[in-house]
Amino acid sequence: MKVLAQFKTIPNYVDFCLPELKSLIAMHNLDWREVFKHEFVQEGQENLTNNNDLINTSPYYPYMYHQNKKLNQKKQLLPISASEIRHTSFRRFPFVYLEFPNVEICQQIIQRSILIDVFIEIISEATNYEDIVKFADKEILFKHNQEDQKILFEVDPYNSHLTQQEIIDRIEIITESLNMRGKIDLKNPQKKFWIMERHVDPFTKQTDSSITNTLLDIYFGVEIGRSKSCTRISQKENQTNKYDLRQRAYLGPTSTDNILSFLMCNQGLTRSGDMILDPFVGSGSLIIPPSHFGAICFGGDLDPRVLHGFGVGRLNKKSQFYQKNEEYCKEMKPKIMLNFEQYELNKPNIIRMDCINTNLREVEIFDAIICDPPYGFRAMTRTAGKKEKKRNRKDKQSTNANTQEDEAQHEEDDQQTGSPLLKQTEQAKIVEEISNQMNGLDIEGKNTQPKNEEEEKKNNENGEERHSYAPTLTVSVDYIVNGLVRLANRVLAPGGRLVFLYPIEREHYNSTGIEKLNYPNFTLVDYSENPLSEKKSRILVTLQKNKSVKEFLEEAGYKNLDEMNEQNQFQNQTDQQQQQQQQQTQAQ
Ligand SMILES: C[S@@+](CC[C@H](N)C(=O)[O-])C[C@H]1O[C@@H](n2cnc3c(N)ncnc32)[C@H](O)[C@@H]1O
Repeated sequence: MKVLAQFKTIPNYVDFCLPELKSLIAMHNLDWREVFKHEFVQEGQENLTNNNDLINTSPYYPYMYHQNKKLNQKKQLLPISASEIRHTSFRRFPFVYLEFPNVEICQQIIQRSILIDVFIEIISEATNYEDIVKFADKEILFKHNQEDQKILFEVDPYNSHLTQQEIIDRIEIITESLNMRGKIDLKNPQKKFWIMERHVDPFTKQTDSSITNTLLDIYFGVEIGRSKSCTRISQKENQTNKYDLRQRAYLGPTSTDNILSFLMCNQGLTRSGDMILDPFVGSGSLIIPPSHFGAICFGGDLDPRVLHGFGVGRLNKKSQFYQKNEEYCKEMKPKIMLNFEQYELNKPNIIRMDCINTNLREVEIFDAIICDPPYGFRAMTRTAGKKEKKRNRKDKQSTNANTQEDEAQHEEDDQQTGSPLLKQTEQAKIVEEISNQMNGLDIEGKNTQPKNEEEEKKNNENGEERHSYAPTLTVSVDYIVNGLVRLANRVLAPGGRLVFLYPIEREHYNSTGIEKLNYPNFTLVDYSENPLSEKKSRILVTLQKNKSVKEFLEEAGYKNLDEMNEQNQFQNQTDQQQQQQQQQTQAQ
């Protein structure tokens, strides 16, 4: 059946709309190309469309205003990869036509979705109200237009505003001209009819004064599903509001926001009974949605303070749960479990470990790994190990004959520590700052590092308990992502998804950079940009594991994962350098 979806255009998550829908489609074992088929232009029908910007050759070419120039060449029969289709691809976004096998699937998908607002079965679509009445589909109208039914009309002018009188006028045109027979009931309607208008983006209108009539399309239809997590529904029923961080009893320094946590859970195709791992679990925000859907959750974190609620984590005194259960909240150990108590969810299995450098056995048991790694934007990236004493570069320069070479090597090492898409110096600065703050703090946030050997000896003799934890080192974005892929190769089931956030500087970002990153034994399923500020963003990357690690290593000719990691790191750096060189040559 053909349905019209209207997406919620939450500014920071617009780019997540299609990847989320595609994941929900995959959860129902449907091919997303089939579901989106109404948005593709059939070969030979190019001229039926009145938009000159469209590229439309094969059945799998959507109407698009694509950023990828390569695809703008006509008659180029390239299959569209999952990541090439963006929200901007659709000429009517946030309205998109979809094809589903039945109503039940539509309803299951919309109940789970965060970003689809409503699904509508269309009775008619036109650019003016006269045509809406004239071209109404009699069969669909007859099916829904019953005398004994309580009905309601919703009027939604996307990108515009209507007065109360204008809304009433529109409802009257439809009810009178199409002889709508149901009785209006505002409180308990059995059927909801939608009149939707799509208007020109106000920004375009401002810049193009020749536009006089802003109305682009009108859609009239019947609601067949509405998102539960819609902001218009009361807080009690609303799953994303219920999990709002402002009402959460225990918060870490970088608790992932609840909309993003639910979106990441959907990207991970999380189902009831799945085993989900967050190797950078912090206060547990990312395993709350999988727990909500009945998954068995596991978390790891190197920093015990965030798990226990000392130093970096805190009880949220503003949350109602805390206010009602103050004593209980204070006593609860470890504090991360408090959030699961609050939401009455199964408690996760938490261990303290270095997930970047893990030597976990190769047991590919997890259905998804979902995480927000600590890149240094908001949290510190660390790995177990001892910090080398800082070199005194000036001294070295004056005494050592190889200083220049050393310095060049050092510079090169520094260059290689950042994200390929993040400006190196900026990241190094943040990393260093946070590193200094964290060094030498104990589980209670106090500095308990013995000042000297004597003090340490004295402490040991007195049998004094010290809460210090293993020394840690600060590491780079590449290092974390490689570690994460290595971990996923060890413990993620073949076909399982690795969903993680990746920091970028907007100025330097282009989607091809992400598409070119090579994750051995993984296929890029999708990526979406979540802007954090004018300059910084993070990309939600969704990868899918191809083969079992044994099979992959054998085929690729690597002895083990470490060898694979080293070579891959080198390959990524070479690709990056080539890309930079190409960009420089193009700029010249
Ligand atoms: C961005 S935070 C994750 C926040 C988490 N999603 C939450 O909702 O609280 C990253 C976490 O990774 C932890 N971490 C840093 N380095 C680690 C490592 N090598 N292994 C495991 N955890 C690490 C930090 O202690 C921090 O809690």
